[in-house]
Amino acid sequence: MDLTQRLKGKTAIVTAAAQGIGRAVAERLMAEGANVYASDLNGKVLSSLNGAETSVLDATDDAAVKSYFNQFEQIDILVHAVGYVHHGNIEECSLKEWRKSCSITLDSAYFVLGAAIPKMKNHGGSIITIGSVASSIKGFAKRAAYGATKGGVLGLTKAVAADYIGEKIRCNSVCPGTVDSPSLQGRIDELAKTMDSRDEAVQYFIDRQPAGRFGQPEEIAGLCAFLASDDGAFVNGQAICIDGGITI
Ligand SMILES: NC(=O)c1ccc[n+]([C@@H]2O[C@H](COP(=O)([O-])OP(=O)(O)OC[C@H]3O[C@@H](n4cnc5c(N)ncnc54)[C@H](O)[C@@H]3O)[C@@H](O)[C@H]2O)c1
Repeated sequence: MDLTQRLKGKTAIVTAAAQGIGRAVAERLMAEGANVYASDLNGKVLSSLNGAETSVLDATDDAAVKSYFNQFEQIDILVHAVGYVHHGNIEECSLKEWRKSCSITLDSAYFVLGAAIPKMKNHGGSIITIGSVASSIKGFAKRAAYGATKGGVLGLTKAVAADYIGEKIRCNSVCPGTVDSPSLQGRIDELAKTMDSRDEAVQYFIDRQPAGRFGQPEEIAGLCAFLASDDGAFVNGQAICIDGGITI
């Protein structure tokens, strides 16, 4: 792909950047010229991300998030990709798992967006949350806590867009269908334990995709780069599905 330099010189923060969608986003923003500050809980995997300023950061730790953002005078782009998938319906979701889901997916968004906004206020910026079609957009079996917390992320995204449009801050959510990432492979392994074979578990996830395949992290990253750039300047407060046809 012939990449432009439409993000040249922009300061971009990407959370959950060690693997999967977050990593692909960090790589894409760098390829388009941004100075990328990438963070993740998993410093070991993150350290192989070349070209970015990498930091270990637990996005559920309010004090650590505040201290991390203090290093920046100005931020132009934030992509918040931290999230956690609990597998189960409401009866199968213990209070502990529910709280964990809320903490990782929703509290982290509250902490990270709250810390980033003051650094965007004087000059504007683009915030992108990684939501999901499994949210207020569509119900999926065994995604009670996940759907609830991602629905919260979409609500926060729209509220931030409404509150800060006057400050020239845009806030959108990218809502993927099933994307081939390390954690998806883990979910397939888990499901395979309840089935006759791993192939059957893979097929279960593919069958949810009308396109007949998983999305690739790079495809999600392309949409994030569009929203981060001036090409997306008139898009605000949207939950944009990129889901292989799930929500046709
Ligand atoms: N993979 C999918 O099918 C899919 C679909 C829709 C939405 N999403 C969302 O995309 C995002 C990325 O998912 P993925 O599957 O590409 O990646 P992944 O789940 O494979 O990796 C997630 C990364 O987040 C990091 N992380 C976890 N908790 C953290 C914390 N408290 N602080 C900082 N980092 C933390 C992990 O160390 C890991 O590197 C998530 O929000 C997920 O819900 C994924």
